[in-house]
Amino acid sequence: MPVDLLVRNARQLVSLAGPAAPRAGLLQSELSIIEDGAVAVSEGRIVAVGSTEELLRKLPLDGRTIQIDAAGLVVTPGLVDSHTHLVFAGTRVAEFDLRAQGATYGQILAAGGGIYDTVRRTRAADAAQLLATARRHLGSMARFGTTALEAKSGYGLDLETECRQLAVLMELDGQPLDIAPTFLGAHAVPSGADPESYVEWLCEAAIPEVARRGLARFCDVFCEAGVFTPEQSERILRTGMAHSLRPRVHADELHDTGGASLAARVGAISADHLHCASEVGLVQMAAAGVIAVLLPGTAVFLGLKTQAPARRMIELGVPLALGTDFNPGSCYCESLALVMSFAVSQCRLTAAEALVAATINGAYAVGLGERLGSLEVGKQADLVIWDADDYRLIPYHMGTSLVRTVLKRGQILYS
Ligand code: NIG
Ligand code: FE
Repeated sequence: MPVDLLVRNARQLVSLAGPAAPRAGLLQSELSIIEDGAVAVSEGRIVAVGSTEELLRKLPLDGRTIQIDAAGLVVTPGLVDSHTHLVFAGTRVAEFDLRAQGATYGQILAAGGGIYDTVRRTRAADAAQLLATARRHLGSMARFGTTALEAKSGYGLDLETECRQLAVLMELDGQPLDIAPTFLGAHAVPSGADPESYVEWLCEAAIPEVARRGLARFCDVFCEAGVFTPEQSERILRTGMAHSLRPRVHADELHDTGGASLAARVGAISADHLHCASEVGLVQMAAAGVIAVLLPGTAVFLGLKTQAPARRMIELGVPLALGTDFNPGSCYCESLALVMSFAVSQCRLTAAEALVAATINGAYAVGLGERLGSLEVGKQADLVIWDADDYRLIPYHMGTSLVRTVLKRGQILYS
């Protein structure tokens, strides 16, 4: 089969080749780094990975093969952002200032601002507006090295707007980033609504309808003090499961409400945030194989003084993924590379652990691990060439993009 593209001479080709499963705890050697590495692509898929010399020797290259010289540079799989709230209207820039003056995220939400502010704007926006804004943010993500992401609804809290958000995601999926869509109707109780009646509506009407229309793969809940209780959250997630939506949870973000245990109990694909998660919850997650999605950018953006207990999770054998949590309220940041910096400096992950979390484990956390997240034969040719001669520079060079070229399905997306 003709080779369309060959990336060669990479100083470090970080392939992440390994078991077809999320990785828990690891040594740097498990990154499977190939020195003077090369990767060959045909029709958007990886057909060979190895040393440049070996690939040049064995591959049928001809004049049609585009060759990219990555001499002196690092090549990794495209980053996978496993938690975003991509589709919304407007910003909350005033709220950012209010928090600087002492108001907390929870107080602003309880006073009818926060998520409710974005809900009002998103309800008023049509699909074309939402699409244009989301596209702009996706462009920014891609320039920072993200090639796939999970994205949620949750700024409608009514069927029409939630479905509009999910339809926007469906339209954007594969254009060219891969997007795994999540129904997050349980992001907040609409203002003025009775919580139990809203949960009833979610379970009896919204979830079945979203599933019937095929708009989501996952169902998520903001299980938090003053938002949804663990009992309500469990009912919502189990209803989702009955409609083939895999569960994931906003768990223990601001308080320990038993979110980690809930995620383990329902067999969630991931539990996200976990800032205040209990030891027992983490032990249960490890036993149930739930991936922890860490969102350290959120704690930084909210000015919190602590982070999720990442080292403890690693000790317990919980696989870690990383996400930006990109949203207008708690983390207005599209750069997963910057979040990798925070993972190292704030959560004490090694650069190797951060890279695993932002690639192969992220891919498993969004249900795309079989297709994405490592540079292995048969996988999609999503890769990033970095202006760096050591992969550890990616998180080390904080806030400066080292991305030189992004390839999506073997096509140059950004250079
Ligand atoms: O993950 N916690 C709930 N949802 C988001 C914030 C959404 C918003 O503030 O608009 C989060 O932090
Ligand atoms: Fe979130």
